[in-house]
Amino acid sequence: MCIKNITSVFRSSNLPMIITMKIGLLGATGPAGKALAARLASVGYEVIVGSRSKYRAMEIRDEIISDWPEKELQITAAENLDAAKADLIVIATPWDAAATTARSVADQLHGKVVVCMSNAIARVAGEFQPLVPPRGSVAATVQSVIQDSYVAAAMHHVPANELGDLKEEVESDVLVCSDHVKATQETSELLSKIPGIRPLDAGGLSNATAIEAFSAVILQLNSRYKTRAALRFIGIDEN
Ligand SMILES: NC(=O)c1ccc[n+]([C@@H]2O[C@H](COP(=O)([O-])OP(=O)(O)OC[C@H]3O[C@@H](n4cnc5c(N)ncnc54)[C@H](OP(=O)(O)O)[C@@H]3O)[C@@H](O)[C@H]2O)c1
Repeated sequence: MCIKNITSVFRSSNLPMIITMKIGLLGATGPAGKALAARLASVGYEVIVGSRSKYRAMEIRDEIISDWPEKELQITAAENLDAAKADLIVIATPWDAAATTARSVADQLHGKVVVCMSNAIARVAGEFQPLVPPRGSVAATVQSVIQDSYVAAAMHHVPANELGDLKEEVESDVLVCSDHVKATQETSELLSKIPGIRPLDAGGLSNATAIEAFSAVILQLNSRYKTRAALRFIGIDEN
């Protein structure tokens, strides 16, 4: 490899190594997608912020870049359809838009890992309560409309504020579930690049029902104790 190529792959010591995998986030103009876009770019991924409107995506891309000028983040903006051309896709829309969004870009998703982070939650009389979507979870509903993609459910419990604050590490276990080993592995590998996050294999996609629903409990704890609760499991030996 010539010197020019080496410098294009490795950046100076205070900047992350560029990772060649491109991550496309659909609905990344909301707090969750924006925060994940910033965090993944900060660890070296090339990230595409996706939206139904390219202009909203550009606005959010510009906000992230101006929030963290010293990070030299590799972020571009696109409509969801173009963001879905990336190597791995994350759906960060509200729960009732996740399957429709996946279906609208299905032609781009064949054979790819698609991570769904949407939670179906309602706030009723001040309390957070889980809703049970068709097929038991948002992720299972998404998988049903893109059957030749590999859907994983993950990132439901990490609050956008912490995820998007690149000054601090994110301290959290992240439960990953899927019916496809490939999806669990690629999602876990992606998340393990984020310092402080420990991805855990939580089994098949049927467990997305419990994982998504548990978000209501965490939001309730946050509200009750005026905090940002995070998950840490004890007793798990990763080796
Ligand atoms: N916020 C958190 O801390 C957090 C943490 C973990 C997981 N989550 C989950 O992540 C998901 C996104 O959360 P959020 O707070 O970022 O949500 P949000 O702001 O309500 O929505 C995110 C984006 O989804 C797109 N969208 C909205 N309605 C849509 C529709 N009908 N069809 C297609 N796209 C639509 C919009 O983007 P465009 O208009 O630009 O297309 C919007 O900016 C939720 O399901 C949430 O449960 C959130």
